[in-house]
Amino acid sequence: MNNIRNFVIISHIDHGKSTLADRLLEITGTVKKDKLQPQYLDMMDLEREKGITIKMQPARMDYKGYVLNLIDTPGHVDFSYEVSRSLAAVEGGVLLVDATKGVQAQTLANLELAKKQGLVIIAAVNKVDLPQAMTEEVKEQIAEVLGIDTSEVLEISAKTGQNVEMILDRIIEKIPAPIGDEKKPLKALIFDSSFDSFKGIIAYVRVIDGEITKDQSIYFCVSKSEGRSKEIGYFKPQLVEQKLLKAGDIGYIATGVKDVDLVRVGDTVTLKSQKEIVKHLPGYMEPKPMVFAGFYPEDPEEYEALEEALEKLRLNDASLVYEPESKEGLGRGFRCGFLGSLHAEIISERIMREFGIGIIISTPSVIFKVKIRSGKELILYSPTEWPNQGEIVESMEPWVKVEIIVPSGYMGPVLELLEKNHGEYLETKYLGKDQMILVYDIALRKIIVGFYDKLKSVTQGYASMNYEVIGYREEKLVRLDILLAGKKEEAFSKIVAEDEAYEEGKRQVVKLKEVLPKQLFSVPIQAAIEGKVIARETISSRGKDMISGLYGGDYSRKRKKLEQQKKGKKRLKEKGSINVPHEVFLKMFSE
Ligand code: GTP
Repeated sequence: MNNIRNFVIISHIDHGKSTLADRLLEITGTVKKDKLQPQYLDMMDLEREKGITIKMQPARMDYKGYVLNLIDTPGHVDFSYEVSRSLAAVEGGVLLVDATKGVQAQTLANLELAKKQGLVIIAAVNKVDLPQAMTEEVKEQIAEVLGIDTSEVLEISAKTGQNVEMILDRIIEKIPAPIGDEKKPLKALIFDSSFDSFKGIIAYVRVIDGEITKDQSIYFCVSKSEGRSKEIGYFKPQLVEQKLLKAGDIGYIATGVKDVDLVRVGDTVTLKSQKEIVKHLPGYMEPKPMVFAGFYPEDPEEYEALEEALEKLRLNDASLVYEPESKEGLGRGFRCGFLGSLHAEIISERIMREFGIGIIISTPSVIFKVKIRSGKELILYSPTEWPNQGEIVESMEPWVKVEIIVPSGYMGPVLELLEKNHGEYLETKYLGKDQMILVYDIALRKIIVGFYDKLKSVTQGYASMNYEVIGYREEKLVRLDILLAGKKEEAFSKIVAEDEAYEEGKRQVVKLKEVLPKQLFSVPIQAAIEGKVIARETISSRGKDMISGLYGGDYSRKRKKLEQQKKGKKRLKEKGSINVPHEVFLKMFSE
């Protein structure tokens, strides 16, 4: 065990974690150079294409007589629970910061988690080969955050390989070997999992105490379920079968279990025979979806296909939840729950890309709580469930604490954005010479659609943000409906604060007027609360020219045509519905 080093790389999206991992695999000879395609550990196609890490892929490397286990961690805020699990599986971390970007808000948050776990941190500035690298400034930021001297921060280029070996040496020198007892009953932490249709769920584990061999009866302490170690092994980085996993090791257990709810990240694995004497490891948390949205197939015929796609995705991602719902105008679909908006975006892209199903995403929303007259408290996942306003005694919504790191030159527009979204100022901190950390409380509802994009655009991409949910606050909330030709279009309904309802209603109808195609007859677009119209626009009729092809004086023919058109319009109007094309939904929800 003395020769094992378990570590993670903590860094922000794009700061070069995958590239550094590639170099480490190459230097240690784990993957031959000619086999190495860029970002080797990002196994999913979508990750490669988007260039971001969604799932962790561990790797076991041999170097100078030591075993180095690297677990890759997802850098994005939505996956912070997964990050915290991988941190619990290691003794140290390499903090990697892009020399052209500096320390980012989510990196700070992850670093905070790492410190709580007592991890030893090795710091490095990456991309020092780039001409625009601000190596010195960034070293200062890192030194300040970690409370160390700038001379301790390594200057590397993951791309060229410059100084990367120094990282390996420091890992061996500074990160402690795991502590654990092979003689004790088995205790292994599940920090990730994947699914194999033959072997069942493959639990990625860090063995804390004890040992495990193939073909033993195993037990999951939190879900209280059983499985079998059908195969065990290491990540090289592909799965390589072994005879034994023991205290200190990182490896996998193919469990034979097919139900994702039974093998959860954060659970503790032990042997069935030892289940009475083993207590599960601390810190287990149910993944809690925070953002909900409706997913509808563009082609109603694809409802079943969509259901199948969601089922398959859930096998690899227990934090995705969904249930059927149907809406007029959209047909049958699913109400899905996500950890955050990036999570929602990734799932929707995978459905479109990997399963080829076009979907419409409706009404992104948070979870509201409402007390009604009878004294009951309702938990509402969608505006459709909103009770009559008169029934409501009290309404509440989730708030988050948001931390934004921004160069001081861009502070003005960021403050404006926060104020506009009714953020409440908490404090300002400094980071290095030029960076500010702004801390605000803000309603989660305000930041799930469009906020991050706006933040990026007003700071030319320099700001970064992180948030954590702090609890529920009372707010007078109402449901804002949109009526087209007098008919409620449910997919557009949303929950807003009462005092913003007018402004938001106006904004919605103006935007709809812009994006809706002209109709044969004029159509009123209205925003309403409980049937009371608060804003209105009208799309004028397209008035098809029916008589242009008719020359000469035969007036009766012209009149006949015009009569026909009038009748047609009346019929359409009576039917009372207009056809809302899918692009309109997409445009409305992308803000
Ligand atoms: P996520 O997987 O999204 O967390 O990103 P990452 O941190 O893994 O970043 P990745 O390794 O994908 O690198 C992002 C981009 O930076 C890629 O285009 C890399 O080629 C580039 N890059 C990484 N390291 C260096 C470096 O040292 N120098 C230069 N010039 N470019 C680098």
